[in-house]
Amino acid sequence: MPTTEQLLDNGQGVIDPDVFFKMNSPPANLKDFETKLEQFVDYHQEKKTRLVFITSGGTIVPLENQTVRFIDNFSNGHRGACSAEYFLEAGYAVVFMHRQFSLQPYHRHYTHNPSIGFLDYLVQKDDNIQVDQQYNDKMKTVLSNYQNAIKNNRLLLLDFVTLSDYLFKLKSGTRILARLQENAMYYLAAAVSDFFIPSEKMHEHKIQSGGGALTLTLDQVPKFLTPLVSVWASKGLIVSFKLETDVNLLVPKARQALTRYGHQVVVANMLSTRKQTVTVITKSSQQVLSLTPEDIAHHVEIESRIIPQLVHIHDGWISSGATKACQQ
Ligand code: PMT
Repeated sequence: MPTTEQLLDNGQGVIDPDVFFKMNSPPANLKDFETKLEQFVDYHQEKKTRLVFITSGGTIVPLENQTVRFIDNFSNGHRGACSAEYFLEAGYAVVFMHRQFSLQPYHRHYTHNPSIGFLDYLVQKDDNIQVDQQYNDKMKTVLSNYQNAIKNNRLLLLDFVTLSDYLFKLKSGTRILARLQENAMYYLAAAVSDFFIPSEKMHEHKIQSGGGALTLTLDQVPKFLTPLVSVWASKGLIVSFKLETDVNLLVPKARQALTRYGHQVVVANMLSTRKQTVTVITKSSQQVLSLTPEDIAHHVEIESRIIPQLVHIHDGWISSGATKACQQ
């Protein structure tokens, strides 16, 4: 097998996306992933339901083939999990491809909360367990929305852990959804690692301490939006995210992504304000969506503003035959 160095495609140290798939083994559960997704997509193709493929949470980058240590990132999947609920509310079927153990739609209301654990919502009465009265009404609504989504087969939960796992499933998943053509939306909210260690360069066993400082060299991950936009999901509406920490870079980098990949929408957000404000950018428009202090006091979520905006863009995308909606 050729080494990564032999396969560098552009002299800048970035391998071609196809090469990545040749150099890495697919995840063991890929077949199972594909079977579940195909059944779900077939079902909704027949029903003519619009479907959104949401990616959510961070990818890990292992440092050893027999992994003890890895590099991770900050994302806990709040954006994706929250968005899934608003897409379901808007009538979409949702494929929720998330980092294992990150936030999940509906469950998120009762997990990962630093001030209250799941058992704190419960009380014991005689021999039975009940929901504490103060949480009852909200939990009833959340439970009923969750059960409706499951009963009506409108929510499919699929997971990933590593960068490689994510990329194989992204490729396979988007190709399966391609049969829905413009009825599919791709909502790429996952925080995907930009750097990784190719399998052939990784330590096989746990890296031993005692030899002083550890120096790591990470290769750049190929930009998978290129084949995703042009080949895997070319008829669907593609929404990527741009995350920055320097506000001066945010809009220029988001616009650069639109030009470079030729897709339809970038949602630009700053790390520190991502739950209060985002900018939805198409080739010809730029809209800032923000929560007011009043909204925040009333626990309004920014996703309740983002999703209707994207549904509107998707309406235009479908009615124009997947070409003109984002050019205006
Ligand atoms: O999960 P939370 O804690 O709620 O946080 C939400 C979020 C901040 C992670 C989310 O709103 C967000 O911004 N996600 C995208 C962050 C990101 O990875 O940005 P990027 O600049 O690295 O990538 C831009 C786009 O290119 C992404 O949509 C990604 O799908 C795509 N990409 C990234 C790397 C890569 N190798 N190939 C890609 O195609």
